[in-house]
Formats: sequence, structure tokens, C-alpha cells
Amino acid sequence: MTAMTAHKTSALSVDGLVKTFDVSAPWLNRVVERKPRQYLQAVNDISFEVPLGGCLSLVGESGCGKSTVARLVTGLYRANSGEMRFAPGEDGKPLSAQMIFQDPYASLNPRWRVKNIIAEPIRELKLRNTAAEIDERVAELLKTVGLSASDGDKFPHEFSGGQRQRISIARALASEPRFLVCDEPTSALDVSVQAQVLNLMRRLQDEFGLTYLFISHDMSVVRHMSDRIAVMYLGRIVEEGETEELFAKPRHPYTQMLLQTIPNIEKPHRDRVVAAGEVPSPLKPPSGCTFHPRCPMATAQCARELPAVRTLASGTRVACHLVQDA
Ligand SMILES: Nc1ncnc2c1ncn2[C@@H]1O[C@H](COP(=O)(O)OP(=O)(O)OP(=O)(O)O)[C@@H](O)[C@H]1O
Ligand code: SF4
Ligand SMILES: [Mg+2]
Repeated sequence: MTAMTAHKTSALSVDGLVKTFDVSAPWLNRVVERKPRQYLQAVNDISFEVPLGGCLSLVGESGCGKSTVARLVTGLYRANSGEMRFAPGEDGKPLSAQMIFQDPYASLNPRWRVKNIIAEPIRELKLRNTAAEIDERVAELLKTVGLSASDGDKFPHEFSGGQRQRISIARALASEPRFLVCDEPTSALDVSVQAQVLNLMRRLQDEFGLTYLFISHDMSVVRHMSDRIAVMYLGRIVEEGETEELFAKPRHPYTQMLLQTIPNIEKPHRDRVVAAGEVPSPLKPPSGCTFHPRCPMATAQCARELPAVRTLASGTRVACHLVQDA
């Protein structure tokens, strides 16, 4: 990985992050069946910067390590190695990240009224003193996300998927975070509802100066949300760059493949290469460039050598033996 300079305008700098899971069979099976211990490298030496007040998106197929990065950044997992540096907030303390999950139903307590779900972090962090102040703040948060104060008296099951995700967002905002990690926040929603929730998230970003680390497997969603995009493949970032640059001039063959799978609204039946082949198991990653078994441009060198990450003149970072800086 390239050495990283701490950016003055980065909310978060991540350098050489590694997360390995022990996925060995139980002890008895290992002894009886002579199975060795087995490790899965879910995040493999990744580095990125999240611009302060901006949005970096992680994109890639299922299992490439996106949620593991989200859990490392929010402190739900500990990294095996690597560094994470959060910029200081207004109070001088490092920013901490709040998480918004894909399934808003699973992350909201079904037995609590919505107003109590949203009030919990306010009470916990002592952000308001009296019950009246807390009620007022909850009503304000509900309106901020496009719901009404009276919705606070209802239970999560009384809402649609999109409304439940608005409640999750209100709850995340209740702790007054500056940094939100959003793990596929709209993937479970219908397309029209998805657009509404994404627009809400953009508006909130402007209104409160929020920083987002946004995760999705959907290139059209990340295009709408991001200043920069990092494309992940089998635990590594293979290309990272400014959104417009990445869409106009995708450099890595895998990024090109992902972009070809976006449905084209004008020409829905045009010929397009559908992501060829299966993602290999991260338990047995291919040698060299791990994308080589699926890569239409692979050479003998690709099967042997892991390509280093290089920074091009455009500022895009890419890991591929064949990419020229032109
Ligand atoms: N707690 C865990 N224990 C063992 N393996 C895990 C664990 N969490 C994730 N993995 C494995 O690590 C790899 C990366 O998983 P991760 O959930 O980060 O991928 P993802 O990109 O978020 O995928 P998806 O798009 O399906 O959500 C996968 O192979 C997954 O099976
Ligand atoms: S290094 Fe080789 S296999 Fe990997 S993406 Fe580049 S051309 Fe394809
Ligand atoms: Mg995930």
C-alpha cells in the first residue's frame, strides 16, 4: 500500500487495515479429522481517507469486506493490524462514528415506542436535561427526517420500510454525530423509496455538515451519494478515486466490469458484459492479482504477482499491472 499522509481535511484516515477471522472447525473435528486451523482474511491491507463533510463510498460484490470495514470503523470489531485516525471534532475529542444498518427493523427495538427509541441516546449521553426538553428534541428529530411528532407514539411495526429507515436515521442523529457509517441503508427498500431516503441523507449531510462512509453494492446508488468511491475486491481496494473520474474513466478491469452491469435506462437491451464468473472463496484466494481468474486482460504475470497500488496523475489509486498513467 502507498504511504499515507494525514490529510488536514480528512475526517478519517485508514492505513493498512487488516481483519482476519478464525473460521477453524471445532477443536474435536480438527483433531479427529486432522484439519488445520483456518483463517479468513476479510479485510486485507486497505487504506483510504474519508473527506471531512464529504462522502466516501465502498462498493463491491457480496463478501468483499464492506461490512467488516464498517464494523472496524465503528469499533464493533478490532483490527489485527493497521491504523485508523479520526480528526478532532469541535470539542477537540476525536470524531466517533455512528452506524446506520441495512435492516431498519432489526435495529429498532420492536417493543419500544418510536419516541423512546429516539430518546435513548439523548438520555444516555445527557444531551438534554428535563423530560420536556427530551420530548421537544425527539419531535424536532422526527420532523427533520420527514415524519411527524405524533409518529413518536407508534411502534416500529406500524411503519413502512422507508419510514423505519427514517426512524433509524433520527435515532442516529439523536446522539449529534458528525460522522455516519451507512451500511447498505437503502438496499432493502423499493427503488422509489430508496431515492427518497437517499435524498434525505444528502439533505441532512448539507444541513448538519455530516461526513459519510457509505456502503453499497449498487454503482448507481454510490454515484448519487459520493465524492469519492473505493472499489473493493476480496478484501482489498482495487481502485479509489473521485466519483466523476471513476465513472468517466474506470481504470481497473473490475471497476469496468461493475460499471457494465448498471442497467442502462435509455438502452435496456444493449449488449453488456454481465459480471463474469463467481467471486472466489476468500478462504482460498487466487494467487497474484486475486481478480485474475475473472479478468479478461489477465497475463501470466497477473497469476504470479500481486499488483501494487499506484497513484495516477488524476489522483486515482489503482492496483493493476496493466494500467498506464495516461
Ligand atoms: N464474524 C465473522 N466470522 C467469520 N467470517 C466473517 C465474519 N464476518 C464476515 N466474515 C466473512 O468475511 C468476508 C467479508 O464479509 P463482509 O460481511 O464484510 O462482506 P460484505 O462486502 O459486507 O458483503 P455483503 O455485500 O454480502 O454484505 C466474507 O467472506 C464473510 O463470510
Ligand atoms: S493485474 Fe492483471 S488480472 Fe489483475 S486486474 Fe490487472 S490485468 Fe486483470
Ligand atoms: Mg455487508
